[in-house]
Amino acid sequence: MGTLKQITLYVAVCSFISSSSAFSLNNCTIRTPLKDIQPKVLCYKMGFFRIPWIPRNTRILDISFNAFAQIQIGDFSHLSNLQDLNISNNKISQIQEGALDNLSNLSRLNLASNRLREISRGMLHGLTNLLVLRLDHNYIKDIDVTAFSTLQNLKVLNLTKNHLHYIEKIKPVLASPYLEELYIASNHFDAFKSYEMSTNPLSLKILDLSKNPFATFQLTDNIFPFLNHLDLSYCGQNGTMTWNITEKTFFSSVKTLYFMDVHISAQNAANVLQSFQNLLNKIRLNGNVELNKTDLLLNACSPMLQVLRLKANKIKHLEEHMFDPCSNLTEVDLGDNEISRLWPSIFIGFTQLKTLRLQINKLTQITNSFQMLSTLEFIDLSRNSIDTLTCNDFANLTQLKNLYLYSNKISIIKSCLFKDLKSLEVLKLGTNNLLRIGDAFSNGPHSLVELQLTFNKLSKIEKYTFRNVSQLNSLSLQDNQISEIESHAFGGLKNLTSLLLSSNKISAKTLTKNQDVFSGMPNLKSLGLDTNSISFSDDQLKFPPFKDLKHLRVLALHSQRRGIGKIPSNLLQGLSSLEMFYAGNINLAHLNPDTFKFSPQLWFLDLSKNALSEDHSIPAELFHPISRLTKLILSRTQLRSLNFLLNANLSRLLSLKASGNEIDTINKTLIQSLPRLEVLDLGKNTFTCDCTNEFFIDWAKNSNSTQVLYLNKYMCSYPSSLRGMSLSAFNTESCTLNIDFICFLCSSIVVILTLLLSFVWHFLRFQVVYAYYLFIAFLYDNKKKQSGSTFQYDAFISYNAKDEPWVMEELIPKLEGEQDWRLCLHHRDFEPGRPIIDNIIDGIYSSRKTICLITRNYLKSNWCSSEVQVASFRLFDEQKDVLILVFLEDIPTHQLSPYHRMRKLVKKRTYLRWPKPGEDTKVFWQKLKMALEVKEGHKSDFLIP
Ligand SMILES: *[C@@H]1O[C@H](CO)[C@@H](O)[C@H](O)[C@H]1NC(C)=O
Ligand SMILES: *[C@@H]1O[C@H](CO)[C@@H](O)[C@H](O)[C@H]1NC(C)=O
Ligand SMILES: *[C@@H]1O[C@H](CO)[C@@H](O)[C@H](O)[C@H]1NC(C)=O
Ligand SMILES: *[C@@H]1O[C@H](CO)[C@@H](O)[C@H](O)[C@H]1NC(C)=O
Ligand SMILES: *[C@@H]1O[C@H](CO)[C@@H](O)[C@H](O)[C@H]1NC(C)=O
Repeated sequence: MGTLKQITLYVAVCSFISSSSAFSLNNCTIRTPLKDIQPKVLCYKMGFFRIPWIPRNTRILDISFNAFAQIQIGDFSHLSNLQDLNISNNKISQIQEGALDNLSNLSRLNLASNRLREISRGMLHGLTNLLVLRLDHNYIKDIDVTAFSTLQNLKVLNLTKNHLHYIEKIKPVLASPYLEELYIASNHFDAFKSYEMSTNPLSLKILDLSKNPFATFQLTDNIFPFLNHLDLSYCGQNGTMTWNITEKTFFSSVKTLYFMDVHISAQNAANVLQSFQNLLNKIRLNGNVELNKTDLLLNACSPMLQVLRLKANKIKHLEEHMFDPCSNLTEVDLGDNEISRLWPSIFIGFTQLKTLRLQINKLTQITNSFQMLSTLEFIDLSRNSIDTLTCNDFANLTQLKNLYLYSNKISIIKSCLFKDLKSLEVLKLGTNNLLRIGDAFSNGPHSLVELQLTFNKLSKIEKYTFRNVSQLNSLSLQDNQISEIESHAFGGLKNLTSLLLSSNKISAKTLTKNQDVFSGMPNLKSLGLDTNSISFSDDQLKFPPFKDLKHLRVLALHSQRRGIGKIPSNLLQGLSSLEMFYAGNINLAHLNPDTFKFSPQLWFLDLSKNALSEDHSIPAELFHPISRLTKLILSRTQLRSLNFLLNANLSRLLSLKASGNEIDTINKTLIQSLPRLEVLDLGKNTFTCDCTNEFFIDWAKNSNSTQVLYLNKYMCSYPSSLRGMSLSAFNTESCTLNIDFICFLCSSIVVILTLLLSFVWHFLRFQVVYAYYLFIAFLYDNKKKQSGSTFQYDAFISYNAKDEPWVMEELIPKLEGEQDWRLCLHHRDFEPGRPIIDNIIDGIYSSRKTICLITRNYLKSNWCSSEVQVASFRLFDEQKDVLILVFLEDIPTHQLSPYHRMRKLVKKRTYLRWPKPGEDTKVFWQKLKMALEVKEGHKSDFLIP
């Protein structure tokens, strides 16, 4: 049975070796697997319950938004190169001690939004190079005293939204000597007493204490000498917070204070603000609706203050002199208030204001309010209700670079509006009521780089509309009603690189009725014409609309409302630099093979969501002019096969997406015709799960150069018995005998044989022994044949010991005495000491004949004996009549039944019978003599079965 164990082990080893790991990852994607030697593995939102297998050299791993409940030793132990690990948004309640020990190169660990209750002793110990640790949004109540003792490099720790009650609990994290940023917002601290945390200076630069119900805040030692940023927003309890800072200078390094919507009295708020000694640069006072703003600013502002945020304060009126203490501000945010009127004197004190935010208020006009703010660079007036703008509204704003006026009710822009805006670069006028542009830009602004006019009601672009904004880089006209574009409409836009005309009413007529619709923009790189009503019926265009766009790289024509009909063969004429072409969702049924003959630089082609189901919808020749193609998208195009790619010469294709089609098989030639393929997406196709896909399945699982995206989600559609099964689960081993299978087969055979032999040995031992004798006889026979023997005896006598008297009294005297035959008798002629079987074989083979004396005793005991076996073998082998059967008793044939072979012998040939008592024996002896006389060489007329 020892062998059996060995065999089982062998089988196990066999199958272990065969389950080698492949490159294709279930449910995960690897970004740029070949170019990047530091693969980024993305497995987020995949429904994992256990950590999947991740390639060894992974540097960046994102397995967030799954359903892991714990992290165990071994999950990450092979990932010693990992630098960035995101396991946030799972259900992790336990991390086994030591499970993260091998991650000594990890610098960022995100465990946010899990179910951790504590940070235990050794949980983080191996993370000696960790810089950033996120533990926010867990249920942490407790942190072990030594939990952070080996995290000597930690700089950022986020413990926001946990269940910490006492500041003392924070103490262990300060064992990381270089901790600079500590976020402990949204816990349950009701008192901050600095001595509970430390009495020695800490290295903290950023401290977020917001959203804790502090009733007491006490700072009794200079523990924050480097603190730069302090967040106390939403603190306080029941409208009070006792504020006790024993030395005025303790917060002197703080430059930024967030003090939003604090639940404390005006007096307390004043106390708090005063402890920053007028040294603040930035303050956020958003949402302190209850507090008197004038008082608040009196305490908060100082000559040092530069940034003031008063968002969402429900401010209705800006009071005169309110900003007097804040004259050095460079940025004011008054957004999201209820301000409806402005007047110039409000801002009079500002001498350095650069950014003014007034978005989301109730302004209807500007009334000349900004003319004192000559330093202003950015003004946000979006989302108000401004309907009219006058020529002086932006007078003097010579420094203004960004003007946001979107989401108002403006219907007319006069060119005088921009007269002083010599520096204006970005103008956003989207979501207004503009019906026409007219001469708005006839005098500039000359420096304008970006103009946004989306979501208006423009219907026509007249010629040379933008001639005097020639610095324009980007022009957005999406979501208007544009149906007419005059010749040279964009003339003069020498620097324009991006023109977006999506979601308008542009038709084929708009583009082809007039020549030169798109001329005058020699540097245009990107043109968006998607979501319009462009539809062609001709194969050739008289005026190819893009002929002047020699530098255009990206053309979007996708999603035409009524379908494009066809793409005329010269539509892309002139686009010699075109690199990306979006032509999805245009109800395209056929592509002209010449379509891309003008655009040899094309490397990206999106033809998704079309109806390319016909056999020659996509001719292979289509791809011949664009041999640089690296990314091809054919998702949801009703394709039944990808075989048109066989002759497409896409030797540079890196990425092929053809999900949502009716592709059933992918053959080897196809895969081989795409030698550089790195990413293949064939999700949601109708795969056939039989041996025609054998190559594809094996290749998809094992390829280490191509990543087959989400392979395990590919389903079988055929045969119906396998419908719904995963393609990758189809057993391709049934298609070919591979090494593993042979290995398995051999082992199985050995096992079965062993079992069989044990069985045979147990139940058929004697038969086995005889088989052995037969074999020996065979060998002996061969030997004899070779040596060409002469016989020592005339007959070998095989008999039962009980019949010995007859042999002695009748046979020997007659045959040896009278007839002079030489007989071989085992009791007389066998060599003593020699193995009995050798004696028998020798006896039989050195006798011409073997005489079996058959009695009932003989049958019972000797019939299966070695003598008969050897003799019958000789008979069989030499086909010589060596066997003489002598029946000493009368045995009816039916009694021979159990001795099946004997019965056959008896039936087939004559045998001698010893006469009954009283009968004459003379005939018997005569017959025996004759039988003995038959010479060797005489062919037997029967064979032993
Ligand atoms: C892959 O994700 C699906 C759900 O999106 C899930 O059912 C399946 O078990 C995942 N496969 C593996 C190997 O985890
Ligand atoms: C800290 O956690 C909070 C809450 O999850 C999150 O909003 C914030 O962005 C995090 N900050 C950092 C620096 O990680
Ligand atoms: C705040 O009010 C709650 C009940 O509204 C009370 O239980 C708690 O003790 C109060 N806290 C302080 C500091 O007064
Ligand atoms: C502030 O705290 C110190 C030290 O605990 C104490 O001596 C002092 O009286 C406190 N001051 C106020 C105003 O509570
Ligand atoms: C705020 O306080 C200032 C002076 O401290 C006072 O003049 C003003 O009326 C107050 N405003 C409101 C709304 O109470």
